Amino acid sequence: MKPLLGLFDSGLGGLTVLRRVLERHGAVNCIYLGDTARVPYGGRDVEELRRIAAEVVGWLRDEQVSTVVMACNTTNALAKDVAEANAEGPVIGLIEAASSMVRTSRVGVLATAATAASGVYRRCIELKRPGTLVVEQACPSFVPLIERGDLACSELREAAETYLAPLLEASVQSIVLGCTHYPLLAALLKELLPENVELIDPALGVARELDAVLGTPQPLSSGRLALGGCRFCVTADADCFADRAAPWLGERPRVSEVLLRS
Ligand code: DGL
Repeated sequence: MKPLLGLFDSGLGGLTVLRRVLERHGAVNCIYLGDTARVPYGGRDVEELRRIAAEVVGWLRDEQVSTVVMACNTTNALAKDVAEANAEGPVIGLIEAASSMVRTSRVGVLATAATAASGVYRRCIELKRPGTLVVEQACPSFVPLIERGDLACSELREAAETYLAPLLEASVQSIVLGCTHYPLLAALLKELLPENVELIDPALGVARELDAVLGTPQPLSSGRLALGGCRFCVTADADCFADRAAPWLGERPRVSEVLLRS
């Protein structure tokens, strides 16, 4: 029996991480928790985010999760220590994984307001690759628009153009998708960027890091995600979450509503 992973995010975003994990490791036992009652996290203050991280990770611990994957950059940036203090086993974060994936000397980071304000990405990348120019860009409109479910809406395109402008101005050669919701916008971002600008999805690094927990990768052969071992929980609006998750997972998951103890 493989160990039980616990992935969490404010909403849909962490599914982009789950997807990468399932693509690399085949069937895994996991609980996915979307804190949909409080999405978005990105505009909340540090104290609140730290309280949320303690509640969410405490809930996963009570569910007997052995490894926590912070499928949320915002809590990763501001409350990794809180997650570690409340978890039973290892806590795996995106930011550390992403920083090891940067290969260029000029890099942009698209992130929530809270993550960008923390400067954690910049510090982490500079530590790994001294001398790298890191331009962090807060994208406050992205998550509320993505959660609404219409990825083709004109507001998203306009917001993307605005947020990419300073990065293009700085001639970045790669861009870290520093919020787990943003891989859902990869096609749109690619359309707006020159071909030579690489998008970095930190979840790929996390999926690789999980080799140490899950063993040798067992990539998908059929192209269909093996969701049998995954349990999906949210803190509000289970039906809506199931509808929005379906295109990303390839099937409509069964989702239950849970109450987190504060
Ligand atoms: N997807 C999360 C992140 O990676 C949270 C986004 C939000 O709720 O604002 O930061």
